[in-house]
Amino acid sequence: MVELRPGEKLINFSSNDYLGLAGDPRVAAALAEGAARWGAGAGASRLVTGDFLPQHDLERELAEFEGAEAAVCFNSGYAANCALVPAFVGPEDLVVSDALNHASIVDACRLSRARVEVYPHVDVSEAERLLRVPARRKLVITDAIFSMDGDRAPLRELSEVCVRHGAICAVDEAHATGIIPLEGIGDLRMATHSKALGVAGAHVAASRAVCDLLINRARPLIFSTSLPPAIACAVSKSLEIVRGREGDDRRGRLWRNVERFADGFRGLGLAACADSPIFALVLGRPDNAVRVAARLREHGVLAKAIRPPTVAAGTSRIRFALTAAHTDDHVDSALAALRATL
Ligand SMILES: Cc1ncc(COP(=O)(O)O)c(C=O)c1O
Repeated sequence: MVELRPGEKLINFSSNDYLGLAGDPRVAAALAEGAARWGAGAGASRLVTGDFLPQHDLERELAEFEGAEAAVCFNSGYAANCALVPAFVGPEDLVVSDALNHASIVDACRLSRARVEVYPHVDVSEAERLLRVPARRKLVITDAIFSMDGDRAPLRELSEVCVRHGAICAVDEAHATGIIPLEGIGDLRMATHSKALGVAGAHVAASRAVCDLLINRARPLIFSTSLPPAIACAVSKSLEIVRGREGDDRRGRLWRNVERFADGFRGLGLAACADSPIFALVLGRPDNAVRVAARLREHGVLAKAIRPPTVAAGTSRIRFALTAAHTDDHVDSALAALRATL
């Protein structure tokens, strides 16, 4: 439940807090204890004096969680993408990027000054065709779960194409971390701490050599004050929950909600892939999406309208995100509100 206006209680279907941990008292307590011990702010970038023990502990835990040799933290997923791409490719290089990749990837590609080729959404053969041109270094980058549609990238096929063409495979796992196992596909794997982990920040999991290179080359890490160490304390606590039995229970609850919502969604004649907790109800014009969002809100359901530039013109939509914090009643209320609205 959220209260955006005094007295207005809404069931929130627009949050990426997939495991319901953002409001967890243990995570909040870890943040408070971390602040009491380490202070409210980091005071400088990691390479100066903003480098504290909880960040190193967290990076060790993240590497273990990811089954990677190492991990390096960033202030946000946006910053991590803008760090990653320019650290590996430059003006003589080629980036091949999915048409529906997140805006942070689009911006990261522009920042790199590499030649950028965009392939039609999830079209592996077109990605492979684009990789045939000569370039000093090649990088293929994709969201693992597409943030506005909820479908999955063909990661295995893309990584095979990368091997064939000597390209680096970079995967943005923002909407998968903690809820969808991806079998470690990708040379560079970016994950956010702001979604299923319920806190803030991000990391890249990779080999030790790659992480060392990032530490020395990634401008968003070098030239920005690091997140407060208390944030690392909170992410560590959240990660402990996500990795344990309780994490399994929460994922179970989440996927039951996804199934229940998908059944109801399809029952209304709407297409649902249920590949992830994200469902898109594409309505076309922005005013249609705004009108439907307002009607849902009258029924106590918060599901925001997503419009250009977040999505392409003509594909404005309502984006529903299911979480482990939803009850059966919440899910049914959203479906009833949709039925009354459409
Ligand atoms: C696919 C994807 N990558 C990166 C980001 C950015 O993550 P953050 O919100 O931690 O900056 C987002 C989030 O909004 C996203 O959906």
